Amino acid sequence: MKLFDVYPLFPIEPVKAEGSWLWDTEGKKYLDLYGGHAVISIGHNHPHYVDRLKDQLHKISFYSNSVKNSLQEQLAEKIGHVSDYTNYQMFLCNSGAEANENALKLASFVTGRKKIIAFTGAFHGRTSGAVAATDNPKIVAPFNAGHQIEFLPFNELKPLEEKIDSEAAAVIVEGIQGVGGIHVATNDFLELLSKKCQQVGALLILDEIQSGYGRSGKFFAHQHSAIKPDLITTAKGMGNGFPIGGVLIHPAIKPWSGMLGTTFGGNYLACAVALAVLEVIEQEDLMTNASVVGSFCKTELKKFEMVKDVRGTGLMIGFDLPESQTSLRKDLLFKHHIFTGEAKPNTVRLLPSLALKKSEVEILIEALSVEFNKWAHV
Ligand SMILES: Cc1ncc(COP(=O)(O)O)c(C=O)c1O
Repeated sequence: MKLFDVYPLFPIEPVKAEGSWLWDTEGKKYLDLYGGHAVISIGHNHPHYVDRLKDQLHKISFYSNSVKNSLQEQLAEKIGHVSDYTNYQMFLCNSGAEANENALKLASFVTGRKKIIAFTGAFHGRTSGAVAATDNPKIVAPFNAGHQIEFLPFNELKPLEEKIDSEAAAVIVEGIQGVGGIHVATNDFLELLSKKCQQVGALLILDEIQSGYGRSGKFFAHQHSAIKPDLITTAKGMGNGFPIGGVLIHPAIKPWSGMLGTTFGGNYLACAVALAVLEVIEQEDLMTNASVVGSFCKTELKKFEMVKDVRGTGLMIGFDLPESQTSLRKDLLFKHHIFTGEAKPNTVRLLPSLALKKSEVEILIEALSVEFNKWAHV
């Protein structure tokens, strides 16, 4: 059997990883500024993470959600404490799309409404409702297109006043748009959004799947503003590579037995690694590190004339290159052995581990100097 060929692949196979570094089958070493798409939060194979996972494997790895699992309770307690959402409730699942799907479903259950408001440039995942609320018609199948979704322009205030009405079950928005090219939701935008949702009885869903878990320097990116969403979705950095997602749910939303469910969500291994991630984030003060190293990186990037519009918060950074310079990401990878991310048409995205060091940023800056100097002499 062959793999279903949906991913454009780089001809590199990482077989070992540690901190912000990867090694391929030939022993070649790569600096990872992509974090496996914003997933690596505490660094590859952190020893505490490895120990926690190994310990748990020796105890019990799986049963089902029909029995008590106190690791789930410990995890909910810990996320509440680290994120400062102690009075919220947690539903655990396995991925980002699944977290958004459950949040959309919850909003619809609570309000009895169907319509969802989303934004231009949004990416919310590949499942039915999540992909319908994603602003990319190429990945929306006819089956998914039956949902009632209205897209409004991201970061524009006036349409919020005009278009959010009492037909809306929910408004879903990323704290910082990731796939869309690193665009930070402004505080004015989020605050008006929150106010409008309250006025019309719609729920506000903050998709923090890419921008959350300390990446912005605060636990959730929206915490740079004054809002408290009804639902917050999380995944990626939560398990540092182990699949886990979750929905933080406002205390006013009451569950009923069977309202949501999953077989694998909140399993022992996922909870053990997610606890390890939070312990490391706290012990190593990684949110402060993301803020400090992220600011340093942005300051250094802004010094290059070729680099346009450096944006983002903490270690979620994007910058644009001139339209003609399409080879930089490949040059960084194949000549300098540095993994980065991209967004169309010509944005480079940096989504490294939150433990990234300034000395590792300097490696990127040096590689960029070499490449930009070459361009200057073409
Ligand atoms: C903001 C956002 N939401 C949802 C998702 C979907 O997450 P997953 O791929 O885990 O389903 C992603 C993935 O890139 C994302 O960036």
